[in-house]
Amino acid sequence: MATGIDNGASAPWPYPRLIAHRCGGTLAPENTLAGFDACVRYGYRMVEFDAKLSADNALFLLHDDTLDRTTNGHGPAAAHTWQQLATLDAGAWRGAEFAGTRLPTLADAAGRCARDGIAANIEIKPCPGREVITGTLVAQGALSLWQGQTPPLLSSFSFEALAAARDAAPSLPRGMLFEQVPADWLRIVRELDCVSLHASHRYLSEPLVAQIRAAGLRVLAYTVNEPARAQVLQQWGVDMICTDRLDLLD
Ligand code: G3P
Ligand code: MG
Repeated sequence: MATGIDNGASAPWPYPRLIAHRCGGTLAPENTLAGFDACVRYGYRMVEFDAKLSADNALFLLHDDTLDRTTNGHGPAAAHTWQQLATLDAGAWRGAEFAGTRLPTLADAAGRCARDGIAANIEIKPCPGREVITGTLVAQGALSLWQGQTPPLLSSFSFEALAAARDAAPSLPRGMLFEQVPADWLRIVRELDCVSLHASHRYLSEPLVAQIRAAGLRVLAYTVNEPARAQVLQQWGVDMICTDRLDLLD
């Protein structure tokens, strides 16, 4: 399938400058459909969220390996079937007004992207030991669920997961995620045939951004919550800013 996306920082690029981290940043429980409401409210046109697998290989959104911080469930997410996960409350921890919010499936997220005209950066966030199958199933799911929409940008901290995604859906664009960009970043992004490099803004510098862009890649910086910092990063040539503060960055 042709994506309309070519490698190269000067090639056409379908994604906006600002991306809402974990769907709605600080304005909603993370990785839930309530975050899409916040995006629409603030005029955001792209979300980042974390996707993983249940015990029975259902694709759903959750950041942590375990359920305890952001749901009323307990223990490893990978030990629960989707039927068990679907009953959990994923909103009450963030405020009484969000009580009853459910964990979304990847299909739910695709539906909201289509309905609201929002692009997606799907971060493949495998539970430990499930890197390859998560990369494969997320990529296959993304390919079929986002048909007719802007192709989702797949990313991961896991080389194995992103390699599996490349093999399962080579046409979907990929971005390698780092906290601090390692010395051998160019070898890694070439091996994964990435279109972008995603890194913590804390470790980026103007020369490093220039090097990455000169190699033909776009740069995504996360998680940028200060408007002044976002401006500096943009001046350096950073293409995408992933933020929790939809209310501050525009
Ligand atoms: O993709 C950027 C960012 O989401 C990576 O960190 O821990 O929030 O998933 P994390
Ligand atoms: Mg993430």
